[in-house]
Amino acid sequence: MALGIIVLAAGKGTRMRSGRPKVLAPLAGRALLAHVLTAARELSPDLLSVVIGHGAESVRQSCEAEDVRWVEQREQLGTGHAVQQALPGMPDTHSVLVLYGDVPLVTSATLQSLVDRSASESCLTLLTTRMDNPAGYGRIVRNQGNGIEAIVEERDASEAQRAITEINTGLMAAPAGKLRRWLDAVGNNNAQGEYYLTDVVALAVADGETVAGVEADPAEVAGVNDRAQLARLERRYQRRQAEAAMAAGVTVLDPARLDIRGSFSAGEDSELDVNVVLEGDIRLGKRVRIGAHCHLRDCELGDGVQVLPFSHLDGVKVAAGVSIGPYARLRPGTELGEGARVGNFVEIKNSRIGVDSKINHLSYIGDTTMGANVNIGAGTITCNYDGVNKHHTTIGDDVFVGSDTQLVAPVELGDGATIGAGSTITRNAPPEQLTLTRVRQQTLRGWRRPRKGGQN
Ligand code: UD1
Ligand code: CA
Repeated sequence: MALGIIVLAAGKGTRMRSGRPKVLAPLAGRALLAHVLTAARELSPDLLSVVIGHGAESVRQSCEAEDVRWVEQREQLGTGHAVQQALPGMPDTHSVLVLYGDVPLVTSATLQSLVDRSASESCLTLLTTRMDNPAGYGRIVRNQGNGIEAIVEERDASEAQRAITEINTGLMAAPAGKLRRWLDAVGNNNAQGEYYLTDVVALAVADGETVAGVEADPAEVAGVNDRAQLARLERRYQRRQAEAAMAAGVTVLDPARLDIRGSFSAGEDSELDVNVVLEGDIRLGKRVRIGAHCHLRDCELGDGVQVLPFSHLDGVKVAAGVSIGPYARLRPGTELGEGARVGNFVEIKNSRIGVDSKINHLSYIGDTTMGANVNIGAGTITCNYDGVNKHHTTIGDDVFVGSDTQLVAPVELGDGATIGAGSTITRNAPPEQLTLTRVRQQTLRGWRRPRKGGQN
């Protein structure tokens, strides 16, 4: 059966106290709405509509995609009104699934069971859950035969109804034709003066239809109304990610202190120490160890790579057996060859470092191509920027650069070149030779320091 999904995302989210529409609040680095769209797409819907209102333009821009049909609800007159805006163009024969843009953890498996149930019985099917404290939610009212009769909103509920702990998650599925008919009959004569989507339940029952319920885990259907709830969902989501990583053979020293904000894959026996933050696309080989307090974005690390604590890697490709850090900063375009070593307080940008080369201490290497087996001394700086242009440095194989050297680009050091410590290299250094720029050392015999009191 063809499926149309409608995501409600027009509300303001007042309790977030934010200048940004609520559905754009980030969970694991992605907008709440983006999570919902991901789950929705796993059902391969024939139509995917998102109802927008508050901050419509920014919501649309940040989640723009070819498969999304944006529907504007100019005034937020209620959830029923919102769904109605998206129904034109939806064939009567479609199944409709209604989702909320601020309920991000719902899984596609749960959604599929909701749709399947609705389609097989051609009826309205609600996703419900149970809550110890149901305050604020619509209550599921059942008859003596346990059939669903109505949803009553908190503000419209009687004392007895408020005691009901089964609540409406807001997510539901129904045949499009019937939903359209019921919504046309929904009025706004209630405590909030809104057109409630939930009122379709009583209308369906009045039509002699059965209304089915699918019960979900409360953790999965929790919504975000304020920042405290957002933080709770973030932890829940991160727990899921840590568990997935562990199931794939990764040691996670503390699942409560790992944040994965993007896609992550790792080979067996890799290890993530505490307070590691992973963003974007992270791919680790086998036996990779990421030390405590490291931040990685868009990185590919080969087998056996070690990243020692407090390192920051962004847009980096690293071959097997490399050691990085502690306190290294590797910026986009850095590629490290097998067995290379990058030590503390080293910054590298847009550079290729050859096999087994070492930059162990306090250096800046930018816009550089470096061969194999190079040793870069402490305090070496590539002066790659003249204030306007970036220039390239080329370093051959087996080069030795003494400490505290400036390599003023564009410049080239030939294979096997040695650069004396403290040099400022402005011209190419030939292969196999010692090149240095250094004022000759002298000693002034008999020189004495000035003394206090005027006496020499
Ligand atoms: C709604 C349900 C309630 C349920 C609860 C679960 C109704 C009348 N009530 O209540 O039974 O327990 O969700 O969280 O449906 N929205 C629009 N346009 C509107 C109004 C809302 O797009 O005109 C969107 C909001 O952005 C939000 C969702 O619909 O994503 C739910 O709206 P909200 O105002 O939070 O509904 P509740 O009053 O919480
Ligand atoms: Ca809500």
